Amino acid sequence: MSATTIDAKPAVRWRRDADLTPRTSFRVPARAAWLAEVASAAALPATLADPRIAEGALLVVGGGSNLLFAAPFEGVALAMTGDSISIVSDDADAVLVRAEAGRGWHDFVLHTLALGLSGLENLSLIPGTVGAAPIQNIGAYGVELDRRVHAVEAWDRDAGGLVRLAAADCGFAYRDSRFKREPGRWIVTAVEFALTRSPRLELGYAGIGAELAAMGIDAPTPKQVSEAVCRIRRAKLPDPAVLGNAGSFFKNPIVPVAQADALLAEHPGLPCFDAGVPGSRKLSAAWLIDAAGWKGHRDGDAGVAPGHALVLVNHGGANGAELLALARRIAGSVQARFGVALEPEPRIVGASW
Ligand code: EPU
Repeated sequence: MSATTIDAKPAVRWRRDADLTPRTSFRVPARAAWLAEVASAAALPATLADPRIAEGALLVVGGGSNLLFAAPFEGVALAMTGDSISIVSDDADAVLVRAEAGRGWHDFVLHTLALGLSGLENLSLIPGTVGAAPIQNIGAYGVELDRRVHAVEAWDRDAGGLVRLAAADCGFAYRDSRFKREPGRWIVTAVEFALTRSPRLELGYAGIGAELAAMGIDAPTPKQVSEAVCRIRRAKLPDPAVLGNAGSFFKNPIVPVAQADALLAEHPGLPCFDAGVPGSRKLSAAWLIDAAGWKGHRDGDAGVAPGHALVLVNHGGANGAELLALARRIAGSVQARFGVALEPEPRIVGASW
């Protein structure tokens, strides 16, 4: 008898009238006409040629931690499910690590730390997948993803092929990238990260130093920085497994320096940061929303987290339209009170902002 190899994972799994609620961290009702789970980039050409995608709308989904379904999606939701991790090159100090898009982000961060690599520790515990991370250029505690990305591998639907974009070609900006600005064009399949064995820790962001001190640590390792970040996040941000949410619902607004100065003169407590854009400042959306009185507010099951004004939460039975209506009321009140326009961070399906 000769042995045969059984491929346990089909290249593509199609599901009709798919319930995406368990795949979205807001846990609101979310459906797509089809869900295509694609195991690897090699399966994309045949999948994309399928009439269900070739003739309809496509929504690429990752961990669902940055999506708000305001209505069912009538097209195909596509999820890349490959989750392998490999070392691309290792010159003793600088190490290039590649992860496929379907890998859970925090699990990947822990994997790199277990390999003794530094660079992603400040980005610990961010929900979502590796493939979604470059789309909105995730960032936290003083580190933005683009500083650690070496290259992004993606299917280019315009050119009809797989490409490898160097970080400089990804158009990264604050919570933004060309992948986000060119919706429908890109399907991220893998990301390569430039990490190091000699850590240059980023401990400047408010709260990290105090948390490490509370842990009794004065010369931290990358793993300990990761632990400190996890502790701060768990204390401040609701756990999506317990209370549906998508992290920060609004981006911190970037305004002209003159407007920031005028607001600061009136409200000296308003946190104001370097925007990385000349002539502009980044303001704290959380502070503006908090000052407008929204923290802990509830409209039925749609609410604002009691612990952080920037996080909208689903107390159980809210739908996407109700959360969107609350978000619009919040933005309207911040606009009226401070003259600042807020923009949502998550992608809204079935409605426009
Ligand atoms: N603040 C308030 N009220 C609140 C919460 C915060 O006034 O309810 C003020 C405080 O003065 C605080 C300041 O806002 O010092 C900033 O708060 P925080 O450190 O929590 O940061 P953030 O600007 O609200 C950003 C990211 C988070 C990231 C944290 C930490 C955005 C939109 N959000 O939040 O990212 O974890 O910094 O680096 O850039 C996410 O994008 O989903 C996310 C959670």
